This record gives sequence, C-alpha cells and structure tokens, in this order.
Amino acid sequence: MTTSDDKTIVKDYFNDVGFERWRNIYGNGEVNTVQKNIRIGHQQTIETVVSWLKADENLSELTICDAGCGTGSLSIPLAQEGATVYASDISEKMVEEAKSQAQTALGENHNIHFSVSDLEAISGSYHTVICLDVLIHYPDKDIPSMVKHLADCAESRLILSFAPKTFFLTLLKKIGEFFPGPSKTTRAYQHSEAEIIKILEDNGMEIKRQDMTSTRFYYSRILEAVRR
Ligand SMILES: C[S@@+](CC[C@H](N)C(=O)[O-])C[C@H]1O[C@@H](n2cnc3c(N)ncnc32)[C@H](O)[C@@H]1O
Repeated sequence: MTTSDDKTIVKDYFNDVGFERWRNIYGNGEVNTVQKNIRIGHQQTIETVVSWLKADENLSELTICDAGCGTGSLSIPLAQEGATVYASDISEKMVEEAKSQAQTALGENHNIHFSVSDLEAISGSYHTVICLDVLIHYPDKDIPSMVKHLADCAESRLILSFAPKTFFLTLLKKIGEFFPGPSKTTRAYQHSEAEIIKILEDNGMEIKRQDMTSTRFYYSRILEAVRR
C-alpha cells in the first residue's frame, strides 16, 4: 500500500465513523470506559505541551502550526494564550468542528487560521510546528517523509507525540482494545522512539524536553525537538 492509500483510508475514516468517535472522545459527553480513559490521557498530553510553551513566556510572539488539529484541543488553548495558530487537518469534518469550537470558545475574531490539508502539503514556515497523536495512524514506512516535512516547516521547534513501541502496547493492539470500535486493529501503529529521534536528528534537530502520558488505554510519548 502506498502512502497516498494510507492517507485516503485515514481521511475517509476521520470524515466518517472516526469523526463521530473522536469528537465524542475529545468532548464532554457520555463515553464508554475505554474512551473515557483515552480522553483523560489525551487531555494530559495537551496540558503537558501547553505547560511547556507557557513556561517559555513568549507564546504571544509565536506562530504555531498545529498539524492534524482534530477538534482544536490544542489550537484553542494556545490561541487563548495569545499565540497565532495555523491549524490544519486532512479531515474536512474535523476542521469544521474545530472552527465551530474555536468560535464558541474565543468568539468571532480569534487568532486561529484553519485549513483542510494533509500535513505533507502544509506550506510556509512557523516558529513551532506541533503534531500530536497523528503519526499513530501511519505505518513506519510513512514516518520519515512526514517528520521531514514537519521539520522543514519548523523554524525553531517541532513537537511530536506518538505511541511508543513497547511489548505491552503490542499486546494490547493484538487483543484489539487499543482502538475501540469496528476498525480497531487496522489503523493504530506504534513507533520506535529511537527511530523517530534519528529522523529528527537527520533533519538538524535535537531533543530538548520529553514526557510520556500513560493511562490504561492511552500511551503517548511527547518529544520537543529544537534546531541544533
Ligand atoms: C487522534 S486525532 C488527534 C487530533 C489532535 N492532534 C489532538 O491531539 O487533539 C488524529 C487527527 O489527525 C488527522 N490526520 C490524520 N492524518 C493526517 C494527515 N496526513 N494530515 C493531517 N491530518 C491528519 C485526523 O483527521 C485526526 O483529526
């Protein structure tokens, strides 16, 4: 399967059954136990990244690209802190939802610029590029060119999160719990942390901060890479 086939599958999923599922997980409504656990873990990942950026005390001077923005869980708090955010997603439905949530949270005149785009079609350069919980949907062979493109768009910093390859996660994926629902075992891939770091280093970056969110059903390694 080519990268473009992978992207078509992911895009169709997030414009259909995946849209409803992930909008619920990232929202406040009723969800099952597994989804609730993923909601809590994902919120922790968002809070970690927002706290890193706030600690630098320069958010209002920054342009931030949120690649694969989903429903705006990261873009909205960053805009609230004064950053100028460029949020994009391969799913039109996700972008519509993120726009509507931004309008509710921030009013008409907010500083988030939305677009529908594959992350490898993003153009321009941004102080910081962030891509959270997107690489999990792609197999290893797609990762180097995706990370390279994101790094090329980042003037100073790239923040990524992904599901790290561990024995326990491999087992969870095998028994099908990691992705609740009908397409559960097809589109969740784990990645080797060493390989992701190598790709970042090959693209002129080095790791500055790192963290790991682990709840029962949600695992996300977060890396902040800065230009060497
Ligand atoms: C699990 S959600 C994470 C959303 C968001 N980053 C967050 O953490 O709240 C994955 C998102 O990645 C988007 N996505 C998947 N492949 C993409 C691609 N190639 N380019 C841009 N967005 C993509 C999906 O449409 C979906 O909204």
